[in-house]
Amino acid sequence: MDKQLLNLTFTVVPGSSDEDSAFEDGSSYATSVASSVYNYRFENGRRYHAYKEGEYPLVSDRVMRDRIPPNLRFIIDDCEATWSFSSKFDYIHARTLGGSIKDLPRLLKQAYEFLEPGGWIELQEYETTSKTDDNSFPEDSALLRWVENLNKAAAKFGKPTNIAPELKQHVMDAGFTGVEDFVYKVPMTPWAKDKKLKEQGRFNQLAMLDSLQAYTLHLFTNVLGWSVEEAEVYLVDVRKELMDPKIHMYST
Ligand SMILES: C[S@@+](CC[C@H](N)C(=O)[O-])C[C@H]1O[C@@H](n2cnc3c(N)ncnc32)[C@H](O)[C@@H]1O
Repeated sequence: MDKQLLNLTFTVVPGSSDEDSAFEDGSSYATSVASSVYNYRFENGRRYHAYKEGEYPLVSDRVMRDRIPPNLRFIIDDCEATWSFSSKFDYIHARTLGGSIKDLPRLLKQAYEFLEPGGWIELQEYETTSKTDDNSFPEDSALLRWVENLNKAAAKFGKPTNIAPELKQHVMDAGFTGVEDFVYKVPMTPWAKDKKLKEQGRFNQLAMLDSLQAYTLHLFTNVLGWSVEEAEVYLVDVRKELMDPKIHMYST
């Protein structure tokens, strides 16, 4: 269904193959794997990846549908498998890898090897922590406990969420030079006076309200052993704090 919705070309690559033919649209292997990619697994009413099922613990239902330009070619592959592209890249970009990657140093080494000399990599991550400068979180904040539990569950699952603070070091360790790290303080809700920061806060608040359940359900139930009901009730308090203009929370 999504294939028709997006009207884009998808090629599915067998993780271990090093044959160039596997990357061509219409190859029999790609076609046969492609159909299985769309046999999504459903849990608690939310949709999860079918490709390498169980490897990605976050929900994958409304992902990107309305947010992609029409002139892209997508290759569905596991970026942690051994890369077998037949040519190198000028530019590699990744955003919000936290919670998806088991072995970040290996991934970055592969990216380094597959960049042309003089090529660039650009990574964007946010810290999965929430802070205030004026102690405006309530005591025993549900949101702060949620972040702690999320980071704990993701680490236990083997794909840590809060990778932003260590990213620069990993990038340098992979061999990259001229590495720059730009850290921005971004409000999580629209509490800031500045117009631009207020707008960023509004977007973040919406994104958080929309994705809370997606981040929580699988990890909290399957990894931390909570019941679905416990998790849902807990999220009510987290949402309340996200809607509270007196809490001046930000992330970086
Ligand atoms: C938090 S989302 C970020 C999506 C997008 N980069 C953005 O910033 O809007 C993480 C994405 O990584 C994908 N993903 C997770 N593990 C992956 C893997 N091993 N190889 C390739 N993609 C993976 C998921 O399907 C999901 O779309």
